[in-house]
Amino acid sequence: MIHREHWGTRLGLILAVAGNAIGLGNFLRFPVQAADNGGGAFMIPYMVSLLILGIPLLWIEWALGRYGSKIGHGTAPAVFDSLWKSKLAKYIGILGVIIPLVVVIYYTYIESWTLLYSFFSLIGKLPHTPLEGNVQDYLKPFETFLVSIIGANSDSSLFYAVPWYTYLFFVITLLLNLYILFRGVSAGIEKVARIAMPLIFIMAIVLMIRVFTLSSPDGRNVLDGLGFLWNPDFSALTDPKVWLAAAGQVFFTLSVGFGAILTYASYLRPKDDIALNGVAGASVNEFAEVILGASIGIVASVIFFGVAGTQHIAENGAFNLGFMALPAIFANIPYGEFFGFLWFLLLFFAGITSSIALAQPAIAFLEDEFKFSRKKAVLVLGAFLFITAHIPIFIKKALDEMDFWVGTFGLVVFALLEALVFFWFYNSKKAWNELTRDNDIQIPSVFYYIMKYVAPALLIIILLSWSIQQLPAKLSENDLNVWIARGFIIGLIIISIILVKLAWNKRGKENVSAST
Ligand code: ALA
Repeated sequence: MIHREHWGTRLGLILAVAGNAIGLGNFLRFPVQAADNGGGAFMIPYMVSLLILGIPLLWIEWALGRYGSKIGHGTAPAVFDSLWKSKLAKYIGILGVIIPLVVVIYYTYIESWTLLYSFFSLIGKLPHTPLEGNVQDYLKPFETFLVSIIGANSDSSLFYAVPWYTYLFFVITLLLNLYILFRGVSAGIEKVARIAMPLIFIMAIVLMIRVFTLSSPDGRNVLDGLGFLWNPDFSALTDPKVWLAAAGQVFFTLSVGFGAILTYASYLRPKDDIALNGVAGASVNEFAEVILGASIGIVASVIFFGVAGTQHIAENGAFNLGFMALPAIFANIPYGEFFGFLWFLLLFFAGITSSIALAQPAIAFLEDEFKFSRKKAVLVLGAFLFITAHIPIFIKKALDEMDFWVGTFGLVVFALLEALVFFWFYNSKKAWNELTRDNDIQIPSVFYYIMKYVAPALLIIILLSWSIQQLPAKLSENDLNVWIARGFIIGLIIISIILVKLAWNKRGKENVSAST
């Protein structure tokens, strides 16, 4: 068995894991989901989903990863294959490499916008408009700016007319990601997390304090913003749409169901703790999400635009709050350019510590299954990401399509598969023993039942209601654009299945020659 890398220190590991989880999901996605789903009405399903789906599945993924460290493999194909004696196991496991890989393609592109916005804010090139008229009026220049950045103003129904500077920022962002990955787990990922995580918290706290001292000309202040999010509203508890949104957000933010935690946990030593590490990472992430993320985005927006205005902004697009409403607010406060710079730099740091995590399963797969050196694995991945990123960069609607199938639907499917493989196809007693051994805290035994019965059943219900509610509408979209994105995902699945077959053939031959 070849040597696998390990985390340098426990603090470094927790920071890297928190960096994996804390990302654009905390600061961009969460405020939009919360505002779009009724603020206080969203928070109860969110907390319930965190406890009975998020945390149990997070522990399952950690346990699968630590098991991987024992067998010397850091991705789901080998882990599933070792646990579940079925020929299918390794092919199903490849989802744990494809899902983070597809997400990282478009995630890195959005990350590059944050770097560009941060730079443009610093040099005073973001629009400045006085907050007069209605919400649409003063957001208009910011919308026009975003549209021009991504080239959505092109006449073509198929292609964006992406300006050269957007493309340049994407290339810079991709190169930075590849450089960190090239340095490796301890000297790259862990080191960056040690620097980026404290900075993320400092920047977020500075922004939160600034937002808390804002007030609008018509008298709204921080209490209005906090009230919108924290006054519980039980009316939406029976609305499946809110539950689906809450569960989806919990998975996305914890990075559960991607396969990326599995890979990070595979760099543990086989007898390291997973229970305390898992909860520590999740707690830091939740602090960054519901305290910092919500306090910046939602509170600022409610102060300036009111609850109705904020909901309107959130409804109209996932990027409108972060890329339009907040810059519009910063443009109207003293030193706004500096706060805008800080806001987008915060997003960039949060984004990059997640995108390197999402790229790592593909690297681990090439290293573990094809015995690639890290340099070769990073080069192959870099070429792949550079080429395939042209789909979300240039093809209209491709980014949303990829996000729906992989970043939303795919996470729930893969999380369900992880629970089923471990607790049903392997052996629930052995799975529980594997999960609870060598930990620094005891996992309460009620989680055995949650992991075996409650979480899988809920995930199946979520998937079925999703399929009934959203699939017909989704599948009725038949533009060439969306088919390019779907075709890409289908093609990638086929290629990955072939790669798994090749890797296992090679392994079989090596085993035969080792035994003769
Ligand atoms: N968990 C990462 C995020 O929140 C993917 O962005």
